[in-house]
Amino acid sequence: MFRKIIGGACVVAAVLAGATNTARAEADVLWYGQAAFKITAASGTVVLIDPFISKNPKTPDALKDITKIGKVDMILLTHGHGDHVGDTVAIAKQTGAKVLINADMGRTFATLGWLDMKQMIRFNKSGPVKVGDVTVTMTHAEHSSEVSHKDESGKETMHPGGEPAGYIIKLADGQTFYHAGDTGVFTDMAFIASYYNPDVAMLPIGGHFTMDPAHAAYAVKHLLKTKTVVPMHYGTFPPLKGTPEEFKSALGDFDTNVVVMQPGESRKF
Ligand code: NI
Repeated sequence: MFRKIIGGACVVAAVLAGATNTARAEADVLWYGQAAFKITAASGTVVLIDPFISKNPKTPDALKDITKIGKVDMILLTHGHGDHVGDTVAIAKQTGAKVLINADMGRTFATLGWLDMKQMIRFNKSGPVKVGDVTVTMTHAEHSSEVSHKDESGKETMHPGGEPAGYIIKLADGQTFYHAGDTGVFTDMAFIASYYNPDVAMLPIGGHFTMDPAHAAYAVKHLLKTKTVVPMHYGTFPPLKGTPEEFKSALGDFDTNVVVMQPGESRKF
């Protein structure tokens, strides 16, 4: 009974906060800045996505110490760029989390000696994998994905990162998140909407390397039509000029709930 009351209170709080209008709003979502999120499901399962944290200029200092990150069940990597791979290896070693990664980038991680094959779930698009009570599906993304490695002398070499991806993350209660990764607009976003019906979409809006606010607004209005959108991948570095205000302006009166988070902030969805 106590548990029921607490759960109900969370739903009411989330609805009042305007985060969502569904009845299963209990996942906690923390944004570190850029594309790095931690989703803590109501069941307690923790999903970390693109954990660029300790060197992320937007992550509050209080969160930069990754030794204090706590339990992590899985880390999802969208592609090989440094502002997404971030602290993946260190957090995986520290927590024992499974690393979900495209098959080719996983092989690169293994050959570079970064991660043991056994700690990775190497997969590819459209083949869902289940980790605990969370189902994860890799989707298309319109981007690139090379892995940079610097040796002890500082010499940089580039390695195959497979294809970039987005992720569909379906929690035990059916709540579904779409983390688009770094991407331009692609018309198969309509397929993602139709097939997975995500409740919440995390979308890049910064431009230059990804969708800018106008492209992201087009994606929402014409392809995804997601009811709740969290803008990401903006403001971290000077070229990522797009702003949530420009995104909202480009959306006009389209009926979607834009949840603008601050780096380090957590919200219930
Ligand atoms: Ni990238």
